[in-house]
Amino acid sequence: MGEMRIDVFFTSDDRKKSLMRDVEHGLTSRPKTLLPKYFYDAVGSELFEQITELPEYYLTRTESQLLSSVARTTISRVCPEEVIELGSGSSTKAKVVLEPAYATGRLSSYIPFDVSESALTMAAEELTQEYPSLNIHGIVGDFETDLDKIPPPNGRRLLLLLGSTIGNLNADSRHKFLTAMRAILGPEDALLLGVDLVKSVDMLHAAYNDKLGITAAFNRNILAVLNRELGANFNPDEFQHYAFYNPSSARVEMHLIPYVKQIVAIESLCLSIEIQPNESIWTESSYKFTRESTVTMLETAGFSLKDWSTDSDEQVGLVLATPQQR
Ligand code: SAH
Ligand code: TRP
Repeated sequence: MGEMRIDVFFTSDDRKKSLMRDVEHGLTSRPKTLLPKYFYDAVGSELFEQITELPEYYLTRTESQLLSSVARTTISRVCPEEVIELGSGSSTKAKVVLEPAYATGRLSSYIPFDVSESALTMAAEELTQEYPSLNIHGIVGDFETDLDKIPPPNGRRLLLLLGSTIGNLNADSRHKFLTAMRAILGPEDALLLGVDLVKSVDMLHAAYNDKLGITAAFNRNILAVLNRELGANFNPDEFQHYAFYNPSSARVEMHLIPYVKQIVAIESLCLSIEIQPNESIWTESSYKFTRESTVTMLETAGFSLKDWSTDSDEQVGLVLATPQQR
């Protein structure tokens, strides 16, 4: 029988401390910013699941199909004993990889890593039912700072980072993050990275401005998180969801813009801030890549490209990369 265990490294205490620090810094900077990892409380994680099912949000659907088509080959190339997934969320995509890995009889553990305890717990419970002999070792942590919390390797590793989660970090943070990933991989291990590709502005615009307003609700939810966790008094409905593609930076930017001037008190920070309709709170970026920009990003962080695949419409890319041999 496999074991199920969840280690929580991002406790509510740590979370509150980093939230306080990050919000104080972000909301007193110009432009005002908030960090996307704070979207994902239980409500945020649920809204994200709804986003993945929207007709306009091509990314999840397309990447899942592509993943199905490369999963077997990838597994026979890497032959993993451990699958680690960063930003695993509901672990829906992991199943596509776990299926053929499990079938080899070599896979011993799946290590989902996510900042959202609620999403991680649900996913781990479901996977334990489906793969009773697999060890499931969930880790609740911040992948930008806590990769050292992953236990030492127990055989060959396949590291997954899907959903273009890498694209929610800016160039500097991406480089640091990939370098840290490189450091937890041995010479025989591999990274399977999903990136969203540069595409038509119309398609991008639709994907981040869905008709049902789920993305808008997801964006505003970050203000509800601040209300609950820091005793702030934002009125989320007073903010407009504003998302657009910025071609010269190859990113979709998500902002919250007040319809009229807001004065917000944030109790835990003993801080009052003013937000004018001519400014915004920049809540997230979603960078889009090309094959070239992906390869450059990987190579400068110490990876070599082993395989590049895309769907027939070249919407998303999946890269298999291994640590460069020194
Ligand atoms: N892999 C899934 C989910 C992508 S959404 C998919 O492809 O559909 C991004 C996920 O990363 C969410 O589950 C979110 O909770 C998690 N996440 C975001 N920032 C994080 C951070 N700093 N550390 C750990 N997990 C994070
Ligand atoms: N990384 C994905 C993306 O950038 C998923 C995602 C994160 C997302 N935050 C989002 C999707 C907000 C829609 C809205 O697309």
